[in-house]
Amino acid sequence: MKLLHDCNRINRILYKEYIKELLEFLKSTGGINDIENYIKLLQSEYAKYIGTNHAFITNSGTSALQLSLLVLGVGKGDNVIIPDMTSKATALAVLSTGANPVLADIKKSDLTIDEKDVEKKIDKKTKAIVPVHLFCQSCEMDTLMEMAEKYNLYIVEDACQGHGGTYKKKMLGSFGELNAFSFNYYKSISTFGGSGGIITFNNASYYEKLETLSKSDSINPIELLRANFRRFEHISLFDAITVRIKLKHANLIKKSLDSIKKIYENELNEVNQINIFKDVYGTTSMRTIYAILAAKKDLLKNFLLRNSVMAEDFYIPISMLDMLEKSIVSNTKLKVSNEAYSFGLQLPMFPLMKKEEVYYITDLIKKFYSVSRLKSLKKPW
Ligand SMILES: Cc1ncc(COP(=O)(O)O)c(C=O)c1O
Repeated sequence: MKLLHDCNRINRILYKEYIKELLEFLKSTGGINDIENYIKLLQSEYAKYIGTNHAFITNSGTSALQLSLLVLGVGKGDNVIIPDMTSKATALAVLSTGANPVLADIKKSDLTIDEKDVEKKIDKKTKAIVPVHLFCQSCEMDTLMEMAEKYNLYIVEDACQGHGGTYKKKMLGSFGELNAFSFNYYKSISTFGGSGGIITFNNASYYEKLETLSKSDSINPIELLRANFRRFEHISLFDAITVRIKLKHANLIKKSLDSIKKIYENELNEVNQINIFKDVYGTTSMRTIYAILAAKKDLLKNFLLRNSVMAEDFYIPISMLDMLEKSIVSNTKLKVSNEAYSFGLQLPMFPLMKKEEVYYITDLIKKFYSVSRLKSLKKPW
């Protein structure tokens, strides 16, 4: 059964531009150095898009996070505060440096890291905070930046889901000391093959450090094996082309995703059994996931899947991951992220999704809750 979630639609529209660009490159190329230069061009264009002085391509968002932390000297004996509700990649990136991830809860208003909880978790060992812009919804950056200043900490934004989002008119990924984006398959700006990531930053000296760290001959063999460093530096030429072309069409992607978000919002606003998350004041998002909390979530999920809609749970909170149990510092119960996981459902959103596809999903949700035994259920929050 084919599920409704078509991240490749945009590639099928833009493929002629990819091919034209590839042919032009092949006709004029002198060799490997030209690929290097092409990637540098993409780096400068992405930095310009985000509003930072520099950007550095990596093979994934996870590598982008790992490298950002390593450049700042984060390592053994350090604590790094991350939200409990995030990809395990956020926690693994911290662990790969030798540091400990310390978990903070999230907020009910927007599912991003709770600044009050962050402040409670800061201690002498804390070296950095990694706010995650989950579902492209911005964290409360003013408060976090003030906190970082007050306690002399680094901010590294996990903007892996944050392409194109803003906080008080500034792009996500332009606040931290270094910031990590992912170009994986499900992101609004993605490579064709699904690999790739990028780091954005202002301080020129980091560029050289990133280059050194990502070269295999600069690092000891154990590190090399552990973190797969050799592959840090590149994405393929074709993937670089697809990202450059998508950047050229960033406005089209944004317009398309905005109109989908609007339909979801209008249609689901009045459904009594679910919570939706509008952009909070001062932020905009370019989401590729429409997150809801739903009463009887598992039943709704199965109903949507049976009707060919890709509906997925939220990330399992880091505090609930058995594999990380021993490595994680967490001394209080993370109530909100646990509840969000119990009720959270991710609905499909992708560039050029058709209006009728969104209505198909919202009508299914309304139909599901119209049966008499579910009618009187309340919103989870
Ligand atoms: C919040 C977050 N952080 C990190 C990552 C890791 O990115 P990648 O899959 O490119 O390694 C993801 C990936 O989906 C993510 O959503």
